[in-house]
Amino acid sequence: LQRLKGERTNAPAIDPHHLRRHGIFLEDSIESEARVAISAYKRLRTQILFEFNSHGSNSFLVTGPTAGVGKTTVSLNLAINLAKLTNLCVMLVDLDLRGSSMQKVLGLNANYGFERIADSDFSYSRASVELKWRNLRVLPCTQRLDNSSELLLSPQAKSFFRTMRDLPKNFLVIYDSPPVLGCDDVLAVTGDVDAVVMVVEEGRTSRKELNDAMETVVNLPIVSTVINKSRDRSIDKYYY
Ligand SMILES: Nc1ncnc2c1ncn2[C@@H]1O[C@H](COP(=O)(O)OP(=O)(O)OP(=O)(O)O)[C@@H](O)[C@H]1O
Ligand SMILES: [Mg+2]
Repeated sequence: LQRLKGERTNAPAIDPHHLRRHGIFLEDSIESEARVAISAYKRLRTQILFEFNSHGSNSFLVTGPTAGVGKTTVSLNLAINLAKLTNLCVMLVDLDLRGSSMQKVLGLNANYGFERIADSDFSYSRASVELKWRNLRVLPCTQRLDNSSELLLSPQAKSFFRTMRDLPKNFLVIYDSPPVLGCDDVLAVTGDVDAVVMVVEEGRTSRKELNDAMETVVNLPIVSTVINKSRDRSIDKYYY
């Protein structure tokens, strides 16, 4: 991985307008909606950094109780805002093997990704892409798998997670995940990450769903709970 740092052989061109249409903000902006979102992501970023520096952690799982609450949107925006810090190398790993949207959101068209992790000749450099934009490398899932938790529990996946854990402290690994409820995929990786960012959707996620999801990750510190799709714009009045 360290060897790959800075190597941009397969770097795709990323279209900021395409990202923006999917709620991903690449660059800072003074436009109202963008600045509210970016400001919230920067606060979360800094919270994560403080937490990680004090606990010596380097990986976290972005998850949520159910589908569609915004896990992938939050993962990508967080990865982008963390990668704006020039001293950090950010890896964004897509663990949503059943219904990943990451490559669509990024506008990628790969057919080889994390789902090949158990192949004897798995190639990290082939499966991952370094965005032509700062220190951010993404390892997407490109094909749907139904036996996803078996793959996440495989010795090859566990070895990959160990490699990620052993990276130097200037590497930060973000895992986008499927929903906690309804499958055992998140449970399968709770021993492989340092912390959790829990995403819930305002007006949609119930207290019971949140409690059930929290129980699944009870052994991990929750760095933050993100209330996504909120209509509360009060943060904007503090804009500086
Ligand atoms: N804050 C937001 N405001 C408006 N739309 C949003 C917001 N966050 C996410 N969305 C939209 O909601 C939809 C679901 O978001 P996303 O794919 O990030 O959720 P997810 O939890 O990763 O879903 P899945 O479980 O299917 O992977 C997408 O169309 C996304 O663009
Ligand atoms: Mg998702």
